[in-house]
Amino acid sequence: MMGPRGHATAQDAVIAYTESTAIDARMLLHDIWGSEAHALMLGKQGILSDDDLRHILQPLQTARADAGSGALTLDRALEDVHMNVESYIIRAVGREYGGKLHTARSRNDQVITDARLYIRELLLDIETATVTMIEAFLRVAEDHAETVLPGYTHTQHAQPITLGFWATAHASLLLEDLRRLRAAYDTTNRNPLGACALAGTSFDTDRELTTRLLAFDATQDHALAVVSGRDFILESAFALATVMTNLSRFSEEVILWTTHEFGMMTLDDAYALGSSIMPQKKNPDIAELARGRTAKIQARLAEAFSMMKALPLGYHRDLQEDKPLLWEGFDIVADSLNLLTQVIQTSTFRTKRMLDLTYGNFCTATELANYLVAEDDVPFRASHEVTGALVAHLVERGETFRDIDACVHFLATKGYAISVDTLTELFDPVASVRRNQSQGGTSPQSVRKMASALADAAASHRGSVAIRSNAIRSARDETARCVRLVLEGKAVLDVV
Ligand code: ARG
Repeated sequence: MMGPRGHATAQDAVIAYTESTAIDARMLLHDIWGSEAHALMLGKQGILSDDDLRHILQPLQTARADAGSGALTLDRALEDVHMNVESYIIRAVGREYGGKLHTARSRNDQVITDARLYIRELLLDIETATVTMIEAFLRVAEDHAETVLPGYTHTQHAQPITLGFWATAHASLLLEDLRRLRAAYDTTNRNPLGACALAGTSFDTDRELTTRLLAFDATQDHALAVVSGRDFILESAFALATVMTNLSRFSEEVILWTTHEFGMMTLDDAYALGSSIMPQKKNPDIAELARGRTAKIQARLAEAFSMMKALPLGYHRDLQEDKPLLWEGFDIVADSLNLLTQVIQTSTFRTKRMLDLTYGNFCTATELANYLVAEDDVPFRASHEVTGALVAHLVERGETFRDIDACVHFLATKGYAISVDTLTELFDPVASVRRNQSQGGTSPQSVRKMASALADAAASHRGSVAIRSNAIRSARDETARCVRLVLEGKAVLDVV
C-alpha cells in the first residue's frame, strides 16, 4: 500500500521528511575538503596511523573527481551529504579504514563547517556583484554630472538635483551594504570544526591546523556555543535583506521613471517584456520581480530568527532549515544584482524630459527664498512666505518660473526688487544645483568628489575580495599538496 505521498513504508516517509540531500548537494566539495583537513589533522596528531590516513585520503580524491563528473550523486536514503561522503569512503576501503574518519568530529560541527566554507564563497560573489553595480551607477554619475532632474520628497517635486547625485546616492547605499556583507563574511569565516557534538572531545586534536588548512580566519572556541550558534546565518540573511531592500527601492524608481507620466527613463528592449494582448506594452518586469522577491528575502530573515528563538543550547534538527532559506536568498540577490546592473547599463535617461519637469513645477522655489535671506537680510520665514505667495499666484494663472516678467512684477508689488537676470539665474535648475556645494550636496563639484571616493572604495573592496579569494584558493592548494605527498608515501608529520 502506498501512503498519500506515495511512500511505500513508514521509513520512506520518514526519510523523505527528514533528509537534506538536495540542499546539501551544494556543499559536497566543501564536505570533501573539510574531511581531508580533518583526516590530515587526525594523522598529524597520531590519532590515525599514516596507513589509515592514506586509505581515507585516497577515496576522498575519487569522491572529488566523481563529484565533478556527476558520478557521485547523493543518495537520499543516507540522509545528508556527510553520511553520503562517509559511506562512499567505507564502500571503497571498508569500515576498518573508512569508519575511522568520523573520529573526533560530529555532524553537528561538520555541517556548520561545510556551510561556512560554502557561504563565504557566496558572500564573495555577492560582494563582487555589488561592486559591479556600484561601478555601473558611477558610470551614470560620470556621464550625468550636470544633468538635472527634480529631486523628490513625498513623491512631490522638492529641489533640483543632478542625475549624478541620484546615481551616487545608490552607489553610497550599496557601499553600506558591502560593509554589512563584509561583516557577515568575518562572522562566517571562523572554524567550528573540532567542537564535535557539543562538548569537545577526549582526543588530542589540533584545531588550529584545520583552521589553517581550510583558510578560516580564526578557530571558534567554545564547543557548546559553536554548535548552538547560527549568527553567521542570521548576519548573512540580514546583509542580504539590506541589499535586496535597496535593490527594491531602485526597482521602484525604475518602475516609476519608465511610466508615461514620469517619462524620465526608457528601458532597452532586451530588458523589457511585452504583453500578450496589448501590442504597445513595454513592461519593467525585471524591476517588478526584484521588488516582489524582496518580500521573500525579508521573510527569510524573520524565518531565521523564528527558527532560533526557542532552541535551548545544543544542536537541534530545526537548524537544518537554516540552509534552504539562505541558498534561496543568495540566488535571488545574486540574480537581481546582475540583472538590475544590466538595466542601469542599458537604459536611456531622458534628460530633456528631466529638465522640462524641473522647470515645470517650481522646484527652484527654495533658491529664491534662500536668496532673499542671503542678499536682503529677510528672515527665512518671511522669504518662505513671499515665495509661497509667488507660487500660488503663478499656479492660479497657469504660469511657471519660466514666466520671468510675471515673477519680477509680482515680487516688486511685494517690495522686493529683483532683476530679470538675477531671477533667471536663481530659477535656472542647472545654476541652482551648482550652488549646492556643501559637503555631500548635489553640485557637480560635490558629486564628482563623492564619486571619486566611492570609486576608490569600490576598487579597494574589489581588491579585498581578490585577496580573500586567493587565500581560499591557496589553502585548497595547500590541502591538496599535503594529501598528494601523504599519498605518495611521505609521513604526515613531514608534510603538514
Ligand atoms: N542535515 C543536518 C543539518 O543540516 C546535519 C546535521 C545533523 N546532525 C544530527 N545530529 N542529526 O543540520
